[in-house]
Amino acid sequence: MRRMSAESLDLFEAPSLLSDETQLVSSEDSQDSQILGLTFRDSKKLPVHGWYPYVEGFSAGYIEDLVRNYSRGSTVYDPFGGSGTVNLVASMMGVPSAFSEANPFMRFVAETKVNARNSARLRFSEFERCVARFKDWAYSPNFERSSREQDLTSYLHAFAGKDFFADKDIRELQALRDAALVLGAEAPEFRDILLLAVASVTVACSHMTRRADLRRRRDDEYKTRIVNVRSAVIEKLTSMQRDIGTAPARHAPAFFASADCREPVESLSGEVELILTSPPYLNGTSYIRNTKLELWLMGFISSERELVALNKTCMVCGINNVVKNRPAEYRFDYVETIAAELDNVSPDLRIPALVRGYCSDMYPILQNCARYLRDDGRLILDIGDSQFYGVHVPTDLLLVEVARSAGLRLKEERLLARRHSRDKTPLKQVELTFTHAA
Ligand SMILES: C[S@@+](CC[C@H](N)C(=O)[O-])C[C@H]1O[C@@H](n2cnc3c(N)ncnc32)[C@H](O)[C@@H]1O
Repeated sequence: MRRMSAESLDLFEAPSLLSDETQLVSSEDSQDSQILGLTFRDSKKLPVHGWYPYVEGFSAGYIEDLVRNYSRGSTVYDPFGGSGTVNLVASMMGVPSAFSEANPFMRFVAETKVNARNSARLRFSEFERCVARFKDWAYSPNFERSSREQDLTSYLHAFAGKDFFADKDIRELQALRDAALVLGAEAPEFRDILLLAVASVTVACSHMTRRADLRRRRDDEYKTRIVNVRSAVIEKLTSMQRDIGTAPARHAPAFFASADCREPVESLSGEVELILTSPPYLNGTSYIRNTKLELWLMGFISSERELVALNKTCMVCGINNVVKNRPAEYRFDYVETIAAELDNVSPDLRIPALVRGYCSDMYPILQNCARYLRDDGRLILDIGDSQFYGVHVPTDLLLVEVARSAGLRLKEERLLARRHSRDKTPLKQVELTFTHAA
């Protein structure tokens, strides 16, 4: 675990500002023509990618280029699978893939987009009949009756005293979910597509909004709230059906490797040509809490209290999953330099603990990546820097140090986008490419 060189340190000056809330500078605003400015916005309107709006998602076009250039048709792995962008792109290019994902709802989204979609494509007439039955039910008096008779005990128990939905809307969402479970019972893949149509519009139908984090709508944000739940679900399902019908039949499956990518997966050892991933940002969003409405509606949790256990499957990346008084298992010289600066200036001691915990957790993950990669394989990751209390935290350099300890060598660093904090301090998003050290 060696110290970084002085030259690398000089690349960065710590701006003296507090906020780590960041925004991407759009590529049009930027003077830099080589900057790609990649976000999920690029994927939102693409068939299948847009089935679930995941702001943390990758740009599909960017992934497609990397898979074409570097996978050589062999397995691609994403340790932080999220909504499955890497797996979906690989699948559509006929390349097999694997992924890990800590959030069971996001795992469901990824598997539905890749594997359930494949099944529905292969059995398209059967799938169309299933959708037709669902739509007939939704526009029959049974829908009103079921909505009226919904028991809200489970919702009230899960989110005691919270009021996330208008009464009528949560009843209709529950009724549509239950219908998906019954009408899709014969084919789990079709059932999952129906369920995803319901889950995709859940936040949009609620008093909440997701702008990176899930929060209550301000008064002026109510104009985008969906007020006709049934139409929204049916519209979503219709566009999903269209995507399935028009997609080429060529596909490759995605294999769910593990929930927690810190755990090694033996079957991947030496099998992977390309690892493509975007790890959580340091002090990133709370991935589990942000999907709590969907986690509950889809039956992955029965109460908000269960989020704590799920959070533990996530690596340390946000202030809320720093475990107080638990020293980081692995320490690195350069990481210590930055963390020690934060020890001195941060009134909140969880901030330096976050930096240490993040790097400590990335160590077994990068070790696993080194183990999975074939001799000539490469790991490409997309990451951004942060700052806290005037201390610049160059996450890319921290990861280079951790990766070196894990047996990986930095081959290339490329600027993907300029970002800035809320107070306009410049930050960036970069692509790091690693290969085996030896
Ligand atoms: C930046 S997002 C990845 C988004 C993804 N590239 C996409 O296109 O949707 C990071 C993901 O890592 C997941 N995650 C966090 N800690 C994890 C862990 N220890 N193992 C597996 N996944 C984890 C989070 O739940 C989140 O979905």
